[in-house]
Formats: sequence, C-alpha cells, structure tokens
Amino acid sequence: MNRLVVIGDPIEHSLSPIMQNAALRELGLDREFVFEKTRVKEEELKNFIKKVKQVKLVKPENIVGLNVTIPHKVAITKLLDELSEEAELIGAVNTIKKEGRKLIGFNTDGIGCINALKEKGFEIKNKKAVLLGAGGAARAIAFVLAQNGLRHLVIMNRTSEKAEELAKEVSTKTKARVTAANLANLSKALSDSDVLINATAVGMNRDETLVTAELMQPNLVVFDIVYSPLKTKLLKEAEKAGAKIIDGLEMLVQQGAVAFELFTGKKAPVEAMRNALRGKLKLQMEAI
Ligand code: ATR
Repeated sequence: MNRLVVIGDPIEHSLSPIMQNAALRELGLDREFVFEKTRVKEEELKNFIKKVKQVKLVKPENIVGLNVTIPHKVAITKLLDELSEEAELIGAVNTIKKEGRKLIGFNTDGIGCINALKEKGFEIKNKKAVLLGAGGAARAIAFVLAQNGLRHLVIMNRTSEKAEELAKEVSTKTKARVTAANLANLSKALSDSDVLINATAVGMNRDETLVTAELMQPNLVVFDIVYSPLKTKLLKEAEKAGAKIIDGLEMLVQQGAVAFELFTGKKAPVEAMRNALRGKLKLQMEAI
C-alpha cells in the first residue's frame, strides 16, 4: 500500500484525509493508496523527513507523498531535494512527492485559490484585489494572483511591516503592481476593488471579522479561505452588503485536487471531494 500523509501540528482537525480518501475511493485507487494524518512537532520535522527518505525502514518506507500544514510549510523547504518553480518563488511547500529517494516540494495553495475563483465564475485578469494577511497562505495567494494578470493587488495585515515586505517581494519578483496599505485605509481600498480575499486566521471558529458590511459594495466578490465555519462572519457581512461570496471549501478542494493529481497522476474527482467535505462540515456544524 502506498501511503500519503498530511503532517502538521496540530493535525487532528485536518480534513485532508476525508477529502483525499473519498477521491481515492471514487477512482478505485483505495487499494493502491491510503491517506493518513500524522502529528509531527516542529523539533521532529528533520528526523521525520530523514526517515521518509530512507527506503529500507519498514514503517515510513512506502510513503509516496506528503501534504504539509502549519507550522512546517516554510521550514520544510530546506529539507527537500528539489522545489518546483512555484514553491521556490513562494518560499513555502504544501505538497511533497517522493520520486525514488528524492523528495520534491510543490505549492498548490496559490493555484487552488485561482482555481476556486475560476470555478465560481470569477476571472482575475485586469481586476483589483485586496488581500488580507501576510502569512504562509497569503504568500502563496499573493504570488499566484500577481502572476495571473491582476491589475493591482493591495496587501493589508495586522502587522503592517509584514504586508510591506511581502508586497515589495512579490512586486520585485513578478513585476506586477503590488502595494501594501494600512488596515485603517480599508474603506478606500475596497471602494474600487473587485475582490476581497481573507487569508488571515480571523473568523476561524470565532464570530469575528476584519471587514464589516458598510465597507463593501454589491459588486465586490468576497472570498474567505477560512472554512470552519463555512459561513464566516466576513461572509455574513458580505451577504448583508449584497456582495457575492465564495467560501473556503472550494479552495480546500482545489488545492487538494492539484495535490491529488501530483500524487496519483490521475484527474481528481472534485465533486466527490466536495461532497465528502460538505458532509463532514455539516456534521461538525450540527455538533456545535
Ligand atoms: P497561515 O499559514 O495560515 O497563513 P500564519 O502564517 O500564521 O498562518 O499567518 C496568519 C495570518 O493571520 C497573519 O497574516 C496574521 O497577522 P500577523 O502577521 O499580524 O500575525 C493574521 N492574523 C491572525 N490572527 C489575527 C487577528 N486576531 N487579527 C488580525 N490578523 C490576524
């Protein structure tokens, strides 16, 4: 059996196994692959990766792919044999493929975001976007948006220096128009924007938002990458303003779909992945 494993700390909450095992079942690949989760603490990462590389060890010998989540996405880049062009540019990895003894790092977060927007009928070419956040997820999204023909990207973050650094780095590396602005200027930035993306943790399992309805106009598309709860406070505020909303489920599915294709070489059954997640998130909501 080929094992695929998502690693992180904490990892208990990860929905990747439910989504990926549903995809494997859908294509009849569940005899060939199984997707698991393993808690790997920060100080254990180096040793864990070393073991994955050693073919002879019994337990991890058949790990053929990994997904990587908080807090390892950046640290792991130094432990791999090769990085894809995208992972190199972004400076973070969320998917690893084992080829022979080599571990190759990819980043599917940014493309997951673009594909989620496309799936919902939103084309980013020549549009203006406001991105909230400057952490790992925001980095991936900022680079990929900048590479895909956005007219102007404005990055805002609680720690404004981090937004400034990221904006400078993305604009230098991609030549796209990327600027940073203070959160206090959100109202002005949103007045002529097409899309607002929340890539901060704000709203995750809490009824909090950085943006309220009076700052939004009905032409705005509001995309939250937080998926727990599915309808975050930000999205509720967006609905109040008459704006179009995209929830975090689609991004989770789309980044997972690209990872699935890297792991198996087969086209991902996205509808089966969506259904598995919807079922699980609905149960979680009912339990609250
Ligand atoms: P991830 O990999 O999910 O992006 P991260 O790298 O820890 O996680 O980044 C978390 C992001 O959420 C950051 O942009 C963080 O802002 P700071 O850079 O100022 O820390 C943002 N964030 C988390 N909690 C927040 C809060 N309560 N208010 C505003 N921003 C918050």
